[in-house]
Amino acid sequence: MRRPVVAGNWKMHKLLAEAVRLVLDLKPRVVNSHHCEIVVAPPFTALKTICDRLNGSNIKVAAQDCSDQPGEGAFTGEVSAEMLKDIGCSYVIVAHSERRQFYGETNASANKKLRAALGASLIPIYCVGEDLAQRDAGLVEQIVEQQVLEGLSGLTSEQVSHIVIAYEPVWAIGTGRTATPEIASSVHGLIRSRLAKCWGREVAEQVRVLYGGSVKPENIQALMAARDIDGALVGGASLEAESFARIVNYIGYDR
Ligand code: 13P
Repeated sequence: MRRPVVAGNWKMHKLLAEAVRLVLDLKPRVVNSHHCEIVVAPPFTALKTICDRLNGSNIKVAAQDCSDQPGEGAFTGEVSAEMLKDIGCSYVIVAHSERRQFYGETNASANKKLRAALGASLIPIYCVGEDLAQRDAGLVEQIVEQQVLEGLSGLTSEQVSHIVIAYEPVWAIGTGRTATPEIASSVHGLIRSRLAKCWGREVAEQVRVLYGGSVKPENIQALMAARDIDGALVGGASLEAESFARIVNYIGYDR
């Protein structure tokens, strides 16, 4: 049985005091929520403070990105996976579509970041998903398969089993236009079948595949009830404790 993950990606939001206020508000709302792993991904500037504030709680912390370089070195502006682990992060988001779209992230750079993250014992949340033009051109399967296979290229079954994959169709991010549970579920099934083909059925059954793109308290339940959806990566609705807690505390979860 895969343990669901509900993760909040704060993107470039929250000054330090706002970030602290948000987690202090969130903590009591999810203190008894043990049915899933709860993760928040603050901006870099708030990471250490948030890790300290959440230490010993049931909320884990993710960074939104990490360097593709393992170890240390002359890489100005980069933050290594080891540094993130050192301050208390458990997860790191890799190759979010905004990094692919605006900052030149590729499947190849994602592969290096996944290796760096795994090498530092961080759990990567590897993002994949097609944009609207690709969907309209009937390229969903091809694009997502390529992102999965190239991103995870050369990784061992053991390494792949630790990775969380987030399917985030670009056309659903921040648009209020959620993929239907059927659409999401079919792509999640495709991802799992490709994982099974390359790394074995046992590994494929272990990998959590999250859905992201306009997840809200109103649609989480239907998404979680769909086959192969193991949680959510939430943007906008994770910026308020009330709405994020309602997503974490989705009910009627039954498969
Ligand atoms: P929204 O929930 O704001 O659509 O963002 C999704 C996302 O990009 C999470 O990483």
